[in-house]
Amino acid sequence: MSTPDLTVRIGAMTMKNPVMIASGIFGYGDEFRGLADYGDLGALVLKTITPEPRPGNPPAHRTVETPGGMLNAIGLENVGLEAFVRDKLPAALEYGTNIIASIAGDTPEQFADCARALDGSEVAAIEMNISCPNVKKGGMAFGVDAEASAEVTAAARAATRKPIIPKLTPNVTDIAAVAVACEKAGADAVSLINTFSAMAIDVETRRPLLAAGTGGLSGPAIRPAAVCRVYQVAQAVNVPVIGMGGIWNASDALEFIIAGASAVAVGTALYADPSVAHRVLAGIRGYLERHAIESIEHLVGSLQL
Ligand SMILES: Cc1cc2nc3c(=O)[nH]c(=O)nc-3n(C[C@H](O)[C@H](O)[C@H](O)COP(=O)(O)O)c2cc1C
Repeated sequence: MSTPDLTVRIGAMTMKNPVMIASGIFGYGDEFRGLADYGDLGALVLKTITPEPRPGNPPAHRTVETPGGMLNAIGLENVGLEAFVRDKLPAALEYGTNIIASIAGDTPEQFADCARALDGSEVAAIEMNISCPNVKKGGMAFGVDAEASAEVTAAARAATRKPIIPKLTPNVTDIAAVAVACEKAGADAVSLINTFSAMAIDVETRRPLLAAGTGGLSGPAIRPAAVCRVYQVAQAVNVPVIGMGGIWNASDALEFIIAGASAVAVGTALYADPSVAHRVLAGIRGYLERHAIESIEHLVGSLQL
């Protein structure tokens, strides 16, 4: 059999394979330079940026390890839109693959401002972080409400021709309803899931372990819940779904693809192994060859019930 076709299309963006790095794990790409050839991956999603720089939450502690995962409450520390476009984006583009910017704001107008500023840039697509559980305004406040998600998606849609990809929160009763609202408002794809709202407590001091009190749970602990939500959303929308949540190896990624994800993103696992995404990619390719599947497209949503 010839080599399987791994190409994925999301709006006007073509990816050479379905493996991405999730937002917030990789910063703007600086810290990971030289650890692996990230240009081999389908796309790299950079840390969420906001119109103005943000300092984030107090450093002790922003992350805590929990069984099968971790909590984080970074609080969207970022360099701001202007410095991102000027200093960070040119360096990230040197990786030689699709660079996806992730944007956030307190209002739909702020999302639109970011989208507009990136319209003339070389980003391949724009992910909209409407699902961050660690900020007081904006963030998840949009993503927990279908109407607000649609409003912010429409605002970004009107401001750019780039593919836009709202990123959804699992902290809702009906994630598929939010996905459908985003699709109707002009989303080219949806990505999911962001982290689950979560908390850990030091029982001796009776204080939260995170400085912010609560945070977001990621890692293998959330994977079955993430696969379930990808399945529910893929049933409900016609646009591509990007799946993530606790992917540690190729088999994990294949679960998401079979459930309906056109592409997958590796997050927390990258902290354990900087080349985990490359292993995931090799494993997906090997699986397609072993099962004589000519194209990754044929595997997407192929769940047998
Ligand atoms: C330390 C850390 C920082 C994160 N920062 C962002 C962020 O800035 N924007 C965003 O959309 N998601 C952010 N996320 C969420 C991840 O992109 C991903 O959706 C989530 O962690 C689930 O995937 P995983 O279990 O593979 O990590 C962050 C996750 C972690 C662990």
